[in-house]
Amino acid sequence: MAQTKHIITFLLLLAIVTFSEAAKAPKTTKMVFYWQDWNSTSGTVTNLPSYKSGFGTIYVADDALTESLDRTSTQVGRAHGMYVTSALDGSDFHILMSFVFTSKEYNGSTLEIQGSDRLFEKYREVSIVSGTGKFRLARGFIMMETIFLDIKANNAIIRVNATILRY
Ligand SMILES: *[C@@H]1O[C@H](CO)[C@@H](O)[C@H](O)[C@H]1NC(C)=O
Ligand SMILES: *[C@@H]1O[C@H](CO)[C@@H](O)[C@H](O)[C@H]1NC(C)=O
Ligand SMILES: *[C@@H]1O[C@H](CO)[C@@H](O)[C@H](O)[C@H]1NC(C)=O
Repeated sequence: MAQTKHIITFLLLLAIVTFSEAAKAPKTTKMVFYWQDWNSTSGTVTNLPSYKSGFGTIYVADDALTESLDRTSTQVGRAHGMYVTSALDGSDFHILMSFVFTSKEYNGSTLEIQGSDRLFEKYREVSIVSGTGKFRLARGFIMMETIFLDIKANNAIIRVNATILRY
């Protein structure tokens, strides 16, 4: 009798552990959108005058994230944050950015982006370090690809391909 009780207790515990582990398993969400990094909404804060490469330049951005390449297409959110020229030769930005979503499903949720953006490479992978709302405790990565670039005018459109693990 006592042994049966122990076995039942053990099975119950096992079930509880199994269910709570299953509940915690993250799901994968993939998203593609376009980061409209235009002159009008990003600005240079400061730079160290001794570096021609722009090392030390801080850019602050409030850029639209849109559904398609077209600047006037539906906005899914905004990119709020900054990036800093953090390689002496100017080949790398350090990005600290919040993607603040405004479209229906993810309205109010955010993804936090941080890492190295080697801007002259075709594809750059940057970490998703966390998020809020629907993306609470999220992690993952984004692949960034420059689709359009006008260095003189300081305008760029970047395709963002996000892979997000979330609960
Ligand atoms: C970009 O900013 C520069 C400097 O503020 C300004 O002269 C130029 O007209 C702007 N270009 C666009 C396309 O907004
Ligand atoms: C997003 O949320 C804000 C604040 O709750 C609300 O004012 C807005 O209408 C919402 N937008 C959409 C597209 O649902
Ligand atoms: C996004 O990345 C996936 C692989 O993770 C790839 O299959 C897909 O073609 C990419 N989409 C775009 C629009 O770049």
